[in-house]
Amino acid sequence: MSDWTKSSWRNKPRIQMPDYPDTAALNAVEAQLSRFPLLVFAGEAQRLKNHLGAAARGEAFLLQGGDCAESFEQFSSDMIRDTFKVMLQMAIVLTHGAKVPVIKLGRMAGQFAKPRSAPTEVVDGVELPSYRGDIINELDFTAKARIPDPEKMLRAYTQAAATLNLIRAFSTGGYADVHQVHGWTLGFTDNEKADKYREIANRISDTLDFMAAAGVTSDTAHTLQSVEFYTSHESLLLEYEEALCRQDSLSQQWIAGSGHMIWIGDRTRQPEGAHVEFARGVMNPIGLKCGPSMTADDLKKLMKTLNPNNEQGRLTLIARFGAGSVGEHLPRLIKAVKEEGAEVVWTCDPMHGNTVKSSSGYKTRPFDSVLREVREFFGVHAAEGTVPGGVHFEMTGQDVTECTGGLRDVSDENLSDRYHTACDPRLNASQSLELAFLVAEELSSRRDAVAAKAAG
Ligand code: PEP
Ligand code: CO
Repeated sequence: MSDWTKSSWRNKPRIQMPDYPDTAALNAVEAQLSRFPLLVFAGEAQRLKNHLGAAARGEAFLLQGGDCAESFEQFSSDMIRDTFKVMLQMAIVLTHGAKVPVIKLGRMAGQFAKPRSAPTEVVDGVELPSYRGDIINELDFTAKARIPDPEKMLRAYTQAAATLNLIRAFSTGGYADVHQVHGWTLGFTDNEKADKYREIANRISDTLDFMAAAGVTSDTAHTLQSVEFYTSHESLLLEYEEALCRQDSLSQQWIAGSGHMIWIGDRTRQPEGAHVEFARGVMNPIGLKCGPSMTADDLKKLMKTLNPNNEQGRLTLIARFGAGSVGEHLPRLIKAVKEEGAEVVWTCDPMHGNTVKSSSGYKTRPFDSVLREVREFFGVHAAEGTVPGGVHFEMTGQDVTECTGGLRDVSDENLSDRYHTACDPRLNASQSLELAFLVAEELSSRRDAVAAKAAG
């Protein structure tokens, strides 16, 4: 990797990062973090990359989901458990629809730093620096709370380590057994409006019963009782990322040890910028957000810089255009990928292009817009003959009221009931699972259409 070091991002233009007032404190934190153990290892990141390679070929499907911003205050084992649980439920439903393995990738254990649309925020005539996530400053609207504090990186590290520790325990300790997870899915469908979901859930039950009768049970088949679960976050706070970047002793490759996958946000993807510079040198799978302003030329440059060897599974393009705009933007980017013969996984983030202000004043996302963007994404890929490789959701296992719509029909007036996000509105457990049923339906009808065409 030519002239790359874990610090070479420091010579590039940086945006969306804090200016720490106390340099000595910053240096001390960086030195301390640099001695802490990595959270993930190169072999794991490589394994995820291999799975993503399968998603690029249509032989796997990526489910990426979790908080917009993880919070220090709301950190609890219940919260982690609930998000983990709903993601596994969604994965079962998606596996049934897609008939391929589903890769489970949390926006968890590191998703702390946030890019903001403005550097400052004005409330009642008072102007203060924007909140940038719990790893940087605090949400409270006071001058003191908004000062970037490097010590927060240590707390974020500790929380990420504890989160990952719990996830690893859940993944193999019996909690993730397919029979158990599917049992929860049946509970969801008690809602009387959910007949078609109940039907799919019953088909999954039948399959499990059949397998058990044929001797395939959790006792005989290890894969039924454990899952692989990976972590990801936006690689935004580069001091934190650099301190956890190490050379793998086996492969000699550099790994971002802060999470299995890191992604580059839509605001920090300048081809010559600091964030692209950091990501290009690490061996992890890299995500790249593609919003409406992404040009074909920039995408071509970014693909060359971030994936010079055109490795399958290395680069995931996360399309986030907004419902009604996918047809305008996605085809030209797919064309750029085809022209370069580039290996990418295409996934759809139907959250970040669909944020609106509700009549009650809350930032929200209508369930129908989220679903519509996913359907448009699948539609464009069907027309282009390319592979829709996955979905990317801001979601939580908790019963929050942040996005409107869904089976239980959260309305603008309900938003204030349980609006807990520190940043963007998330799908709640029921909305997340409902969406999984709808995406599964989409996947299985597309699969049937392809099969019918092949059969002539
Ligand atoms: C996010 O994923 O939380 C985010 C800020 O997304 P984007 O960079 O696509 O706006
Ligand atoms: Co967000």
